[in-house]
Formats: sequence, C-alpha cells, structure tokens
Amino acid sequence: MAVLEQLTSQQAINLENKYGAHNYHPLPVVLSKGEGVYVWDVEGKKYYDFLSAYSAVNQGHCHPKIISALQNQAEKLTLTSRAFYNDLLGAFEKYATEFFGFDKLLPMNTGAEAVETALKLARKWGYEKKGIPANQAKIIVCQNNFHGRTISIISASNDPVATENFGPFTPGIISINYNDISALNEALKDENVAAFLVEPIQGEAGVFVPEENYIKDALDLCKSKNVLFIADEVQTGIARTGRLLATCGNCSCSDKNCSGVPDVKPDVLILGKAISGGVFPVSAVLANDDIMEVIKPGNHGSTFGGNPLACAVAMAALEVVKEEQLAENAFKLGELFRSELNKLIQDSSLVRLVRGKGLLNAIVINDTEESSTAWNICVALKENGLLAKPTHGNIIRFAPPLVMTEEQLLECISIIRRTILAYEA
Ligand SMILES: Cc1ncc(COP(=O)(O)O)c(C=O)c1O
Repeated sequence: MAVLEQLTSQQAINLENKYGAHNYHPLPVVLSKGEGVYVWDVEGKKYYDFLSAYSAVNQGHCHPKIISALQNQAEKLTLTSRAFYNDLLGAFEKYATEFFGFDKLLPMNTGAEAVETALKLARKWGYEKKGIPANQAKIIVCQNNFHGRTISIISASNDPVATENFGPFTPGIISINYNDISALNEALKDENVAAFLVEPIQGEAGVFVPEENYIKDALDLCKSKNVLFIADEVQTGIARTGRLLATCGNCSCSDKNCSGVPDVKPDVLILGKAISGGVFPVSAVLANDDIMEVIKPGNHGSTFGGNPLACAVAMAALEVVKEEQLAENAFKLGELFRSELNKLIQDSSLVRLVRGKGLLNAIVINDTEESSTAWNICVALKENGLLAKPTHGNIIRFAPPLVMTEEQLLECISIIRRTILAYEA
C-alpha cells in the first residue's frame, strides 16, 4: 500500500490500532479536512466540530490569515534554535506581552512544557527571591486538576488512570480541594510554599466553574503570603470563556463584555493551544521582570521554543482574536447556548445540568460515571453531524470554534436537542 493512498475510515483506524500506541480512545471518525467550524471525514461527510481540538482551534480550522502567515514564514526561515537570534521572536514577545499585560514571555511549544516551565520558574523564584531553604519549595495544586502529562505534572494529579505505575513522583506538591478558599488559606500557612497553580475553570475535570470570587480571593490570599499565583489558561485562555482570559472574568472591571487585560492579574500566566489557533504547537509563560529575571542563560530552554514559524503563526492567531472579536462572540453565544440547553433540560430526564462560561461548556448526563451513556450520545451526535467527546464518564464537553455564527450555533443546538431526545425515547 502506498503511504499516501486515500484510505477509508476503517483502514485508517486499523492502521492506528496496529502501529500506534493505544494512549487515546478516539471517537470512530477519521477527519481529513477542516474549514472554520466544520470538519470532513475521509468519506466526505461534514460535521460541526464541537471540541476544537480541546480548545486549540478557537480561530476555526485553517484560518486563512494564520495559514498565510505559516506559508509565508515557512518559505523564509523555520528554525534557528536559541543559539542565535531570529528576527521574529522579539517582535512576538513584544506583541504578546503588550497583548496580555506582562513584562516578559518565555516561549515553549506544548501546554505541558509551559506548565513545567512555570513550576521551575516558581521554585527558582522561591529560593532566590522569597528565601525558601534549598530543596524545600512546595507548590499548591487542586484536586481533579489537569495540567498535562509529564512526570512532574502527573505528580500533581489525583487521577489514577493518569498516574498508576508511573511513580516515583516529584515531591513538593500540596493538593487541596478546588474552589475551597479556606483549604488554600490553611495550605498557605506553610512558609515553604512558592506558588499556587490553578485552572480558572477546570476543563478536563468536566468544566467546573468555581464560585464567582474564588479566583480573585485566591489571588489576594497568595499575594498576602508572598506566594506566586500561577494561572494555567492553556484551555481557558484566548477568548474561550468570553473574555480574552478567564482570569479577566474575576477582575474588578465593570464592563462585562470587556475582553481586555485584567486589572487583577496572575503573577504567572500559562498559555498554549489557541495561542497559535491550533496550527502549530506554541505555548508561553508570561510574568513580570521581578519574577522572570531569576531565569538566566542555561537555566531552561527548548530547541523549538520561540522558533520563527511559531512566532509568525502566534502573532497572526492573536490578531484574529482581536480583529474578529472572538471573546465578544464567545460571550454572546455562550449565553445563548446555556439558555437553550436549559430549555432542553426541562424536556429531558437525560441531561442533569449545563454549566460553563463563554463557549467552554459541558452537560452532565443523568447516569453513573462508569456508564457508557455519554459516549453513546457522542456517537449518536457524530451520526447527526456534530463532534463532541465525553470528559470523565458522564460529562460531555461542548467547545466549538469561536468563529461560529449565531445561525450555526442554533443549528448545533437543534442537533444536540434532537439527538438527546431521540436517545432517551
Ligand atoms: C489546563 C491545561 N493545561 C495544560 C494542558 C496540556 O497541554 P498539552 O496537551 O499541549 O501539553 C492542557 C491540555 O489539555 C490543559 O487543558
């Protein structure tokens, strides 16, 4: 068989099963094309993408402006490593730091790498600025978090599927309940704590939105204890939740449609996924000088981090967010989505609740966590032309590209409604 022969869906699935490690359990659909809010399978069937590659494709599939930036730069220069300067990294760093309101940026590639970077930065800051005794630094994390897949990051996880037989784990982690300010207060009594790492909304855990003041109160508490507040906005950032950053929703800004930089902001911000519109792996850690200055040549790095292709793509992707007012669109469509899904809940005994912010939402299915109901509903949604995936048993995440129109969203809501009502009939 020629490598580039056009495969059927089943042939493609068979190949992955035979030659790939089985570290995912994908929905049985094989995609070969994407444009805006749509994807097509190899047989030509068209679907609404309601996952956006876990919120990486916020700008829509193959956005022409981002693809053009990729193509233009690919013909000029792709990789220099950081052994030399390149003519785009500084421009990207200036653009992104002004965009998000920080002094400095450290470029990486994947979300997990950026989280690792933030943890290293926090530990080093803890020793050199806070005065924590050598090798005693601790990081507070939350139960049910998802920050990625490296050994250190899973050391902070309480998900047995992610951790079983991967030990020994990285020490120095304190795990507390999410959305529990008194637990944070208690944990902060330990003077060796360098940082609190938190998702403003827990995406993988099932789109858990904390209480209105949790993030701001946690940030204030950390400040009072000289502990860094690290916001992991890999999934919630870049307009997904109806603001440029989910932490914006916790600032004191009175304009509810504001998508600007928050006036209450984390000490360290972690971004990934949609910072490149899902076109190329780009991630970043942002912080002000007093924190970032602890990193010196040789302390940390990445061959691909800050490469010119990534910089060109990320700048174009961020421009799209601003030019197309994606935060405003996500805010508006998110309100519509939840209000329509709440109507469905009145008519269905299968959907227990809908929750989320902007276009990061989830429904909880009225069944046990171990049941296959949510999976079966996703398979039925696929048959009806909409792709979504369960996250943790009985929860289905809904996160379409933010370039969706109201008309398209209403069509999606009607597919979801029809599918769920048919399923329980
Ligand atoms: C909040 C959060 N942090 C980190 C990551 C890891 O990102 P990556 O898969 O690019 O390593 C994810 C991925 O889903 C995430 O949702």
